[in-house]
Amino acid sequence: MMIWISPMLGISIIAIICIGILCLTWLSKRARRVYLKNQSALGAFNSGIEEIVVGKPIIQTFGLEETTTNQVNILNDNLFKSMRSAAFTSQLVEPLVKFLNQITYCLVAIQGGLMVLRGSISIGDIQAFFLYVGQVSDPLSRSSYILTKFQETSAALGRIYEVIDTPAEIDKGNKTLGDTTPHPGTIDFEHVDFGYTPSNVFMKDINIHIPGGSMVAIVGPTGAGKSTLVNLIMRFYDIINGRITIDGIDIRDVSRESLHNTVGMVLQDAWIFTGTIADNIGYGKPNASREEIEYVAKLAMADHFIRTLPDGYDTVLKRGGDDLSQGQRQLITIARAFLADPTILILDEATANVDTRTEVEVQKAMNTLLKGRTSIVIAHRLSTIKNADFLLVVENGTIVEQGTHHELIERGGHYKELYENYAAGMTV
Ligand SMILES: Nc1ncnc2c1ncn2[C@@H]1O[C@H](COP(=O)(O)OP(=O)(O)OP(=O)(O)O)[C@@H](O)[C@H]1O
Ligand SMILES: [Mg+2]
Repeated sequence: MMIWISPMLGISIIAIICIGILCLTWLSKRARRVYLKNQSALGAFNSGIEEIVVGKPIIQTFGLEETTTNQVNILNDNLFKSMRSAAFTSQLVEPLVKFLNQITYCLVAIQGGLMVLRGSISIGDIQAFFLYVGQVSDPLSRSSYILTKFQETSAALGRIYEVIDTPAEIDKGNKTLGDTTPHPGTIDFEHVDFGYTPSNVFMKDINIHIPGGSMVAIVGPTGAGKSTLVNLIMRFYDIINGRITIDGIDIRDVSRESLHNTVGMVLQDAWIFTGTIADNIGYGKPNASREEIEYVAKLAMADHFIRTLPDGYDTVLKRGGDDLSQGQRQLITIARAFLADPTILILDEATANVDTRTEVEVQKAMNTLLKGRTSIVIAHRLSTIKNADFLLVVENGTIVEQGTHHELIERGGHYKELYENYAAGMTV
């Protein structure tokens, strides 16, 4: 309409609008940069705060309150600056559009006024121009507002997509492990090579045969690779060469669901979720009755302490079970594993935090429970694993010895040395 009324005046106004669009495009690019920076400052600040809250006792022990506070102050300053810059950018849009709008009004008034004086346009047409200018600026300011909002959202989304776009591990296995063999739970490592990074092969040519139903203990110094071995059975990591089989089936061909139903694991770090003690024990068997839960708690020697709590089995545990001792948490996870009743049970330092007397009691319960079940036990307290069917001695990622406790003591190698050190430590 503007061009139809007066091409010259119309083109001048369109030129100003084009300049405006260029400015807004620049602004929205800047907004994207600023928002990205803002999101990462926010992330850094939040994780800094979380670290302080979680590590409060350690910070106090080392008397580092001031240093830590200063570190967080720096993060806070960064966040303040980037938020100020983000707010400035997003608030700049409206005044910019308004300013351009006023310039077009001035242009219409001056250039139009001169044209009226020359008699090339009527006053009514100028009046119409004022209306049209207002109508053009409204969608422009709205779309620029949407554009900056869009940049803000896409900066936040970018960080979410970093997580969502992580390729999922492909679960190609479709076989299920059953109880078809007479002794289910036979595990074999055949020429297994493994490294946490492809360039650094930590384990080379590992061969292990664990007959179904037997109890195996893995011993060795810290960092030898004991946990690594059991992590490989759980397929938390994939091996480089060779194969690991359970009942003759390569675990890569087994679906993760079936593998994790067959193999149960109790770890040193007991994982407790928010919920009652009964819920925590019943985690592996969703429809377990209260009797079953109490039965396994008794076996795991957890029943006694649970009954001393005000609400017994209905006591609600919060914040990862902070209100229990570490040993008590471990007993709960042992009871949980007993209830889930897996064919293969792995206990990685499962009783490391309970006292020796409780450990002996738990051990007794386990001896009945582990009958007919393959079990792999890792423990630094060698007294608890003397009765294992055989022991694997691991050092630096290799199996250096295997045999029963008596055989290994007679051989007089690594195990004898470990055991003598342990026994000397016990008598001190
Ligand atoms: N996720 C990982 N990424 C890279 N290296 C790892 C990882 N986990 C363990 N390692 C390395 O592998 C080696 C074996 O670790 P592993 O946890 O198996 O030891 P361990 O025998 O269980 O020791 P501990 O008795 O202390 O539990 C160590 O040198 C360790 O640094
Ligand atoms: Mg370990």
